[in-house]
Amino acid sequence: TMSRTPLVAGNWKMNGSRELAGTFSDTLNANSVEGVDVVICPPSVFLTSFEASAFALGGQDVSALDNGAHTGDVSTGMLAECGCDYVIVGHSERRQDHGESSELVAQKAARVLSANLTPIVCIGEPLDVREAGESALQEYLGKQLAALTKQLSPQDLSGCVIAYEPIWAIGTGKTASPEQAQNVHAYIRATLAETDEAVADGMRILYGGSVKADNAEALFSQPDVDGGLIGGASLKADDFMTICQAAK
Ligand code: G3P
Repeated sequence: TMSRTPLVAGNWKMNGSRELAGTFSDTLNANSVEGVDVVICPPSVFLTSFEASAFALGGQDVSALDNGAHTGDVSTGMLAECGCDYVIVGHSERRQDHGESSELVAQKAARVLSANLTPIVCIGEPLDVREAGESALQEYLGKQLAALTKQLSPQDLSGCVIAYEPIWAIGTGKTASPEQAQNVHAYIRATLAETDEAVADGMRILYGGSVKADNAEALFSQPDVDGGLIGGASLKADDFMTICQAAK
């Protein structure tokens, strides 16, 4: 099996400030985490307020369209110009608040790849699906993945990162147990292997949902958990550093 470089990405969501960008730049540059890819995804208006040397930047979302008459949207080229190497696509908050379908999410992923950036593609089930049992869960996640494998070639797929974020664990303080996360991550990898085994083997699959400084290590030590996508705890530099260290 291929060895996968762990990745920890902080998703600031609609939080932060120029000042916090400065604090994070100072803290993260002074404490580089050997062997872990560290990414901060701030609101796009703050991207250029970072001085990122020991970490990378990512967008929280992007348009699937070319530059043009699309008020309020931001393109892959703009994110690249502002220093991004990554872009989150398909976060459950985008799916819920903006009605994004899995097909649109796959289009966005393709778009991100064609700009030579890395999409972090989010999938995850709501509570009622989780409570309906294992086969409902796998069917739900299987559909979200199928939209991706249908639109992307194995070559393109190999340029993606996947983030599993169970919606019931996001911002609730109710994290998935390490066993629950491992089970789903193994299912995701096995599903990708049906498309391409080498791609599945190399795929970094992140866990997201109430990852904190005190539970990160137990989650990241699972064999198919290759790091995390961190919300609330990515807004405090010290907590975020502790979480990055836990991915080593
Ligand atoms: O994208 C990360 C996120 O949805 C998880 O949020 O606050 O539960 O860590 P949080």
